[in-house]
Amino acid sequence: MALLMHDPLHKNIKARVWSTKFPFDREAQHFTAGIQGRLDLAFEKRVKDAALKQRDNYYIVFAEADQLPGLFILRLKDRVLIQFYTQFWNRYKSIIQTTLQEVFPEIKDENIWFQLRGETRELQKLPTNSTEPERRDEFHLQEFGLQYLIRLGSSYDHGIYTDMSSIRHILAPQIKTNASVLNLYSYTGAFSLWALKLGAKDVTSVDLSPKYIEWLQHNLGLNPELNSTQHDALVMSVDEALDKFISEGKKFDFIICDPPSSSSDGEKRTSAIKAYRDLIAKMDQVLNPQGRLVLFLNTHQVTNQKFEKTIQDNLKELRLNYKLGTRLSLGQDCPTLKNFPEGSYLKGLLLEKI
Ligand SMILES: C[S@@+](CC[C@H](N)C(=O)[O-])C[C@H]1O[C@@H](n2cnc3c(N)ncnc32)[C@H](O)[C@@H]1O
Repeated sequence: MALLMHDPLHKNIKARVWSTKFPFDREAQHFTAGIQGRLDLAFEKRVKDAALKQRDNYYIVFAEADQLPGLFILRLKDRVLIQFYTQFWNRYKSIIQTTLQEVFPEIKDENIWFQLRGETRELQKLPTNSTEPERRDEFHLQEFGLQYLIRLGSSYDHGIYTDMSSIRHILAPQIKTNASVLNLYSYTGAFSLWALKLGAKDVTSVDLSPKYIEWLQHNLGLNPELNSTQHDALVMSVDEALDKFISEGKKFDFIICDPPSSSSDGEKRTSAIKAYRDLIAKMDQVLNPQGRLVLFLNTHQVTNQKFEKTIQDNLKELRLNYKLGTRLSLGQDCPTLKNFPEGSYLKGLLLEKI
């Protein structure tokens, strides 16, 4: 038995669990106080977490794992982006905002942004209040000493994947000074800039989107301590780029591969997990001996075990010899729950070429 938050408008998730504690009528009566209590608890955890002082971007609420189903709150320097994955939260906007500003009084009204996120295209919208003229929707923030451009009002994705921040930090010791790094599906280049800062000899970023590569170049320009002549950006598909490197005999020491969970060439949809076999075969040809591969998968629909097994099976089939290193997952400000696989959507494997 559970007390549920009903969302008749959601395509798949019609309800989310609010409580399993009896008596439910009492829980329902004190619902607003419940929201405040849970928000306070989530904020308090982040305020106490020393690791989060190293970046301007972190989650202060991470949905189910903070007992606030379908609600994500992201701190982006002096701004806050409140994301609803269920329209249920719409009617509680003001209570969320007031509770937030009680704990973080420095956050001004005009720096609070609301965004409805969802699985269907029609739910993938810009923040609702992003067109108000007094809002400064472009600004810079820092993550581990690097500056990034954030645009809240012009794109569904605002310029940095904060759920990857703790992983970038964990990977730091793996990216060796003087390494040659390849960042596939680079987006705005967070891993590329990070690799340059860590002392990589050269970094190559590949993304299909000219807009994101331009954004990456802009990010590079924001960080004058990085040597942009050590960076190369290619606007092309990963498949094409790998073929190009193979034909040129180009080799790398460290490859990051973070594909979208599924992609379409206009005709058919391919899931990242299925695409990995061919990708690994090609990445192997451009990876130096003792080189490292970091493979990510961004979907809750494939479990950690299934992902690992698929990759091991691919390696066996291709007769490739790799040692499995660290398993990567959400962490720090993005907690996960043991019995809630939907929340553990991000997974990664570090492989070393033998
Ligand atoms: C999940 S994001 C990568 C996030 C990035 N790793 C980060 O941490 O900032 C996926 C990116 O892949 C790009 N993309 C999608 N299909 C592609 C393809 N076939 N070849 C190259 N890039 C592609 C998209 O434009 C998008 O920027």
